[in-house]
Amino acid sequence: MESEIEILSSIIQRRRSIFPPSYTPQEIPDEYILQILESANYAPTHKLTEPWRFIVLRKEAKHKFGLELARLYQEQTPPAQFLQKKYDSLVEKADQSSCVIVLNAQLHPGLIPEWEEIAAFACAVQNMALTAEALQIGAYWSSPGTIEQLPAYFNMEPNEKCFGLFFMGFHNEEPRQAKRSPIADKVRWIED
Ligand SMILES: Cc1cc2nc3c(=O)[nH]c(=O)nc-3n(C[C@H](O)[C@H](O)[C@H](O)COP(=O)(O)O)c2cc1C
Repeated sequence: MESEIEILSSIIQRRRSIFPPSYTPQEIPDEYILQILESANYAPTHKLTEPWRFIVLRKEAKHKFGLELARLYQEQTPPAQFLQKKYDSLVEKADQSSCVIVLNAQLHPGLIPEWEEIAAFACAVQNMALTAEALQIGAYWSSPGTIEQLPAYFNMEPNEKCFGLFFMGFHNEEPRQAKRSPIADKVRWIED
């Protein structure tokens, strides 16, 4: 039997960003999505502000959101730079995904610095990514150029900011190695 550390390391190292064109049409059961969200809720959080906020989009809402992402792209792109391919891919990505989770953080100015809220929120997203990997669900964190327009579309609270989208779907991708330089290049040990 694998030890806990072997299982944990394997999930951490195996997790890759998996993109919507690789997703199969198989729907992710709601229980799996709830499990992924539950993991987010265990992230560390200074002063227990628990800043992570999520909007789960499925079915028709997900399709409408894809259309909105494409519309926003067209709206904010000068005609000379507009690419029909990019427009179409924004619609397709939402349709290819079984679920899209809008990743938001609720900020508490005056209580703790914004960077700490964003750090806690990012820990929550990583918990989601690792849980998705353990459930053999492909996922990736997307940060579209239209992100600042999303709070209005979702009628979010004034103290909430959107920090991206989490696309998810089952997939048949072969495992691939992470592209990382050695950790030793990024660490200084000081002992005396
Ligand atoms: C905050 C954040 C935003 C990201 N935004 C995008 C994005 O907009 N488009 C994209 O293709 N990948 C995005 N990614 C995924 C990275 O490209 C990916 O993590 C990186 O290539 C390493 O690959 P891996 O996740 O498979 O290890 C984002 C990742 C993070 C953490």
